Amino acid sequence: MEERVKDILQSTNIDQPIVVKGWIRTKRDSKNVVFLAINDGSCMSNIQVVIDKEKGFSTELLAKASTGASVVVKGQLVESLGGQQKVEVLGEELEIVGEAPEDYPLQKKRHTIEFLREIAHLRPRTNIIGAVARVRSAASFAVHKFFQEKGFLYVHTPIITASDCEGAGEMFQVTTMDLNNVPKTEDGAVDFTQDFFGKQTSLTVSGQLSGETYACALSNIYTFGPTFRAENSNTTRHLAEFWMIEPEMAFCHLEGNMDIAEEFIKYVLKYILDNCAEDMAFFDSFVQKGTIDTMKNVIENEFARITYTEAMEYLEKADRTWEYLPKWGVDLQSEHEKYLTEEIFKKPVIVTDYPKEIKAFYMKLNDDGKTVRAMDILVPRLGEIIGGSERESDYGKLEQRIKDSGMDPKDYWWYMDLRKYGTVPHSGFGLGFERLILYVTGIANIRDVIPYPRSVNNANF
Ligand code: 4AD
Ligand code: MG
Repeated sequence: MEERVKDILQSTNIDQPIVVKGWIRTKRDSKNVVFLAINDGSCMSNIQVVIDKEKGFSTELLAKASTGASVVVKGQLVESLGGQQKVEVLGEELEIVGEAPEDYPLQKKRHTIEFLREIAHLRPRTNIIGAVARVRSAASFAVHKFFQEKGFLYVHTPIITASDCEGAGEMFQVTTMDLNNVPKTEDGAVDFTQDFFGKQTSLTVSGQLSGETYACALSNIYTFGPTFRAENSNTTRHLAEFWMIEPEMAFCHLEGNMDIAEEFIKYVLKYILDNCAEDMAFFDSFVQKGTIDTMKNVIENEFARITYTEAMEYLEKADRTWEYLPKWGVDLQSEHEKYLTEEIFKKPVIVTDYPKEIKAFYMKLNDDGKTVRAMDILVPRLGEIIGGSERESDYGKLEQRIKDSGMDPKDYWWYMDLRKYGTVPHSGFGLGFERLILYVTGIANIRDVIPYPRSVNNANF
């Protein structure tokens, strides 16, 4: 029988023939036997293969069975005497599928996470990055499971777009123009009518605006796809390419939005704890002590909910010196987010009703004329993990906000049509998928929770 290591380790088919396929993690050579620890990525544990040197394996073949080599082993499943594992494989035939010479970079010693980033093509062969890959996959599945069970439709919003959803101008341009010979108009500006799409286009920063059009027809939808930001922030929490989950709900106000967001985070965390126990135990022991208990606490307790104005009161009362003095009207800095989540509430905090000047044009204006129905979810250690809002559903107010933000309402005609024809209160949010993975795994740098990170000055591999 041919099985994955994960299943073999649980198997009770003792004394039955078995085939193992994978990569050698370690090799231990003793007088009469060679022990090979084989991993195939199906789980963190290796299966131990025992090779009896007397059984006609050539020295040459055994020499090639080195760390990193890929192998197919045929043998018998037996109970393990070693104690660490229940079963092991007595090797009868050993095939070296691909050798790994001595310069294989992942020899037994422990490597720093920074070094692993330099060999991102090989790092999934390590315990930590393998575990991240499995948790990412499970979390993605949980995202779809959560929304599908609730009857949300998965909508594929475009990657190439002509509108700037966040209005922040942090877009990567998409063009087929010859950059050495850019067509110009008579007054010297770039002539985008000659570009591929006949207009200026970019990679999307968010699927929200298209998501809204589908929600205002199909009620509850979500997108889950790559998004791109040309932010020049070289931090451990920013990527130029990241994955975002964006649900959008019609007939839904900010309270309903917060409820769904909180339920969603708890659901995904629980799914990971229930389905990635071995990997989570690894993160808990070697990456961030106590992360499992932290996650359990998040699942079991209600998030705090405060307004931006209340948050400012906490910050102004705080007996400490800030690098950035908290001030109403100015965005929360990461030290402020840390203080609220780690010292005041010691759990996730939902902050609502931010000043309109520091939030995007599409957020619903409150009656005070000063704040908008925004909500950010902040978590200890990381800060913002979700950004969302109730959307402005009034045509005139939206038009004004677009103008105030220095944009042209004509460019958003289709978006404004939603407010002209059958407008409804609607809300949604965006969860940064990599931030969620950082949160559960306890990993410190966002570059280590996505296979190939793209950030300022880095698009290797
Ligand atoms: O707060 P943001 O900018 O909100 C939006 O894009 C809305 N259109 C979402 C919506 O309402 N549908 O981004 C949402 C989340 C942030 O809270 C953060 O978790 C993540 O996306 N994020 C990033 N993650 C990694 N790298 C970056 N550069 C990120 N920028 C935002
Ligand atoms: Mg935000």
